[in-house]
Amino acid sequence: MATFTRREFLTTLEAIGMAAALDGFNWARAAQETTGGSSPTKVAELKGKPVLTIAHCCDPQLGFGIADSAEQAYADDLRRLKKEIELINAAQPDLALFAGDMTNRWQEVGKDWPELLKSLKVPFLVAPGNHDIPDPLKASGVTNFTGVFGKEYDSVVVNGWKIIAINSQYCRPTDEKALYDAQVEWFRNELESAKSAGLRSIVASHVPPFVKQFEEKDEYFNFPTELRKTYLDYLIANDATFYLAGHTHTTLERQYLGLPILNAETTSQNFDRHDFGFRTLKIDDELNYVWDFVEVEKNPAQKK
Ligand SMILES: [Fe+2]
Repeated sequence: MATFTRREFLTTLEAIGMAAALDGFNWARAAQETTGGSSPTKVAELKGKPVLTIAHCCDPQLGFGIADSAEQAYADDLRRLKKEIELINAAQPDLALFAGDMTNRWQEVGKDWPELLKSLKVPFLVAPGNHDIPDPLKASGVTNFTGVFGKEYDSVVVNGWKIIAINSQYCRPTDEKALYDAQVEWFRNELESAKSAGLRSIVASHVPPFVKQFEEKDEYFNFPTELRKTYLDYLIANDATFYLAGHTHTTLERQYLGLPILNAETTSQNFDRHDFGFRTLKIDDELNYVWDFVEVEKNPAQKK
């Protein structure tokens, strides 16, 4: 079987009509921005009650933390993750969004997560990471993941919003063309049907479209440049409102044509030495939002 390349990915996008859907997208979003329309605005605090609250959790990555042994690293990460779940259960957000890398070794995805999921008392979505379904994506890797988490991509509708979590492992070359096509078709339907139903949408993936700036080179931490613009423009054309990601182990706030792209703190290892924890995204009816840090544990690396 031939390898499914990034170029072929783009060709697939065009074949199913995504490229055609982009016609005029810049004008639409530019007009919204000029008139103070529907781009989200970050505020110090919301004036009224949020219409949507999401716990944005990144890279629990059990076993990746810094410790004297692999066993201790796993135990530390598990302790912090359990505390994170306790805090989420107490806060009762509308949704807990896990932006991938649920464990450090994909072989261990079924070790503790079945019990952890049972302990989570709010609706949740999981976008698989590269440590959950390894590169290159194979059907067996997907089955290993879905055996624990149910689906490799999924969506929920809450309070007039649709939150869509995709599997960004398909951003990298894979031989599994049928699986790949299935996600593209599913995603297209999810996003476009949300727009036509009058729902606001949020898209999430493990890998972010870009890390520091849109015009950056391909690397381990971003979407390939061939896909990045097509993908982001497609989201803009279909009125995606926020993008939630993981993978970077660094807290980041960027935007693309008014679309906030957010990466939160983790409970395993933060390369920027932030404390361990997660973020709570709260949005009101006017698209004002806060994205506040919730501490799980102090990071000893800050003292160095
Ligand atoms: Fe990752």
